[in-house]
Amino acid sequence: MDTTLNDRLSNLLDNVKNARDSFLGYPVSKDFDYSPLYDFLQYPINNLGDPFEDSTYKVHTHEIEREVVDFFAKLFRANPKDYWGYVTNGGSESNLYGLYIAREMYPKAMVYYSESTHYSVKKNIHLLNIPSIVIRSQENGEIDYDDLEDTLRFNRHKPAIILATHGTTMKEAKDDVSTIKGILKKLAIQDHYIHCDGALSGTFGAFAEPRSPFDFLDGADSISISGHKFIGSPIPAGVIVTKRSLRDRVSKGISYIGSLDTTITGSRNGHSPLFLWYAIQKMGVEGLKARYEHSLEVANYCREQLQNIGINAWSNPGSITVVFPKVTDQLKNKWQLATEDDITHIICMPNVTIAQIDLFIEDVKTEMETAPLEEELMYY
Ligand SMILES: Cc1ncc(COP(=O)(O)O)c(C=O)c1O
Repeated sequence: MDTTLNDRLSNLLDNVKNARDSFLGYPVSKDFDYSPLYDFLQYPINNLGDPFEDSTYKVHTHEIEREVVDFFAKLFRANPKDYWGYVTNGGSESNLYGLYIAREMYPKAMVYYSESTHYSVKKNIHLLNIPSIVIRSQENGEIDYDDLEDTLRFNRHKPAIILATHGTTMKEAKDDVSTIKGILKKLAIQDHYIHCDGALSGTFGAFAEPRSPFDFLDGADSISISGHKFIGSPIPAGVIVTKRSLRDRVSKGISYIGSLDTTITGSRNGHSPLFLWYAIQKMGVEGLKARYEHSLEVANYCREQLQNIGINAWSNPGSITVVFPKVTDQLKNKWQLATEDDITHIICMPNVTIAQIDLFIEDVKTEMETAPLEEELMYY
């Protein structure tokens, strides 16, 4: 290979590797080994069309994509006779799909979402041109049910689309889908749709104790997750699971592809379903549960260690995210810690170890000892 090209590739690889090794602030798992799948990179795999239908283009992984959807449908307690879904490019596309189906069902609806909702949702609502109202969040990041009820009451003549979040981006708070369903019932708003954005926590929500209601039996009409977050994937990926009966409202037959055009994009990544499928095969439900328990243990440890040195660290119940007052730019940049307003968080993804937490705590201690008084105050 040409040496300049070689050098550039090897520099890029070093940069990516170094950046990967030192972050604690983003919900991305890094502990995967997909080497048995490398041969598949030689093929122009394209999952064009609906994974549950035949298609003329055969270089696809539809069969395993269906198994990924089956796995999550079961985990989310979907009606075995009425579910459907596909592997998307990520949580944002999955949310777009949930909102798209909701709007097709109720074109005159209003969307309600809390101020802690991920930024992709606002953009999706804008793209779909649906009127919306932002609901207050409680201090812990969960939707304010009183504000939701009051706002719904005021608009009860309109169908309602509720965008609930199971694991908000900064505080990993969970909106209670059963409570939301109860409010809709109390107000007799029969035309409603609940989409649950479970980008990070949807993957392990079934294992949390106590469980926070979020799935189909709890009242959701569609649920989205990001595949590259808790499971881990070299390519961003997501899953959307909804009801087949709802999908039927948006499906159109396209003779060029010999399939149904039910997905947001035409050409679709056929490799990412393969990664997710492989991970699920290797882990199974029990492995996924153990992965969550490990993350929870590390999160508990991290919170306690921060508290022990006087930092006001906290987590929502069952959450793998530890929230604390904003750190200095130096710490933020070294550990790539997401910081918003006056808080910073560490997300104890399955690859985060106690040893890494110890190193981070040492850095915090050093800064507390050496930082000028004004900076020190930021920790309290
Ligand atoms: C709550 C929530 N929803 C949606 C997303 C978007 O997911 P993705 O980055 O997979 O598009 C994120 C990403 O952090 C998130 O935290």
